[in-house]
Amino acid sequence: MLDTARRLMAPSQRSDVPPFMVVDVMAAAARIEEAGGRVIHMEVGQPAAPAPASAIAAARAALAAGRLGYTETLGIPALRVRIARHYREIYGVEIDPARVVVTTGSSAGFILAFLTLFEPGDRVAVALPGYPPYRHILKALGCEPVAIETSAATRWTITPDMLIAAHRRAPLKGVLIASPANPTGTMVTGAALRELIAAADGEGIAFISDEIYHGLDYAFPAETAAKLSESAVIINSFSKYFCMTGWRVGWMVLPEPLIRTVDRLQGNLAISVPTLSQIAAAAAFEGRAEMDTVKHGYEENRRILLDGLPKAGITKMLPVDGAFYLYADVSRFCDDSFDFAKRMLEETHVAATPGVDFDPLHGRQFIRFCYAGSAAEMREAVERIGAWLKR
Ligand SMILES: Cc1ncc(COP(=O)(O)O)c(C=O)c1O
Repeated sequence: MLDTARRLMAPSQRSDVPPFMVVDVMAAAARIEEAGGRVIHMEVGQPAAPAPASAIAAARAALAAGRLGYTETLGIPALRVRIARHYREIYGVEIDPARVVVTTGSSAGFILAFLTLFEPGDRVAVALPGYPPYRHILKALGCEPVAIETSAATRWTITPDMLIAAHRRAPLKGVLIASPANPTGTMVTGAALRELIAAADGEGIAFISDEIYHGLDYAFPAETAAKLSESAVIINSFSKYFCMTGWRVGWMVLPEPLIRTVDRLQGNLAISVPTLSQIAAAAAFEGRAEMDTVKHGYEENRRILLDGLPKAGITKMLPVDGAFYLYADVSRFCDDSFDFAKRMLEETHVAATPGVDFDPLHGRQFIRFCYAGSAAEMREAVERIGAWLKR
């Protein structure tokens, strides 16, 4: 091939983002299943339950009615109004529906937020361990993710002192936090969130709150940044509490001055969010009782793991506050949790995610269990792991 042709096909440097290592675990799990093995899947972070019946019925009716055209760029008005009502009902805060923007999952919300708030080269703080795409999307957009290492000392979150110290080393333009968080499953209290937002506001650092795991809180109720600040950007999704990962629909609550910018960006990048998914999402709110039953299932799974894993030998774990993740320290058993996860899968047929995906510094000590499956699976996983570690 000619050198010029080869150069034309060379991907850009900013597109050089790492893949998920969990893909290797999933491929190994698939090979075991092809050979007839029964794998307990605790590696992928998604609900096992389907979308609310109300959402599925609304989607069926829309399909039967025929044409699905583009929608308003910021989302179907009825859905934006319904999301605003959700804030009144759940958090007791009035949100103008004009500030609500429907997005293609929270994943698109991050792209829109980062494009709207940051210039190439801007530094944006994220917690480590943390959800890898925060860092990777920032990098792909030419921004600099600044990973702030967290530990038990700060209950695995960024504190105002840590934020300000990082800002003094080199100015930050933004900070993103999630509560409940992935992979840790830890949460910050409303008071801690208020202090962090105040610190960010005081230093002129944009605050982005990933609230995708709201609704799945066990330790204490999750607080929305929308109640604490009108300048914070809130990102949320129908993927987790509403069990709608594949529908690819989420939302943002924006400060009023950013609405028009996001409108222009989303109009150019996507035109609008898939219509069928928006119709289903609006109806999903009628399925809260059904989703609360699913949540109670996670609570039961959490109890089974909190009781069973220490007996099985896994005694060190982060506070299991919310979402459906348990982040366990397995350094007692191995130098590298990637090998641990591989061996555990091969020898017990329980799949979990090695921590290195979430934390390049200390992730090799940890594995993440997702407990969004059934109680029977959780009991069996604990038994299999216990028997394996006690061999
Ligand atoms: C913390 C966190 N934020 C965002 C996402 C993206 O979810 P979605 O794009 O389906 O809304 C995930 C998915 O696992 C996540 O764990």
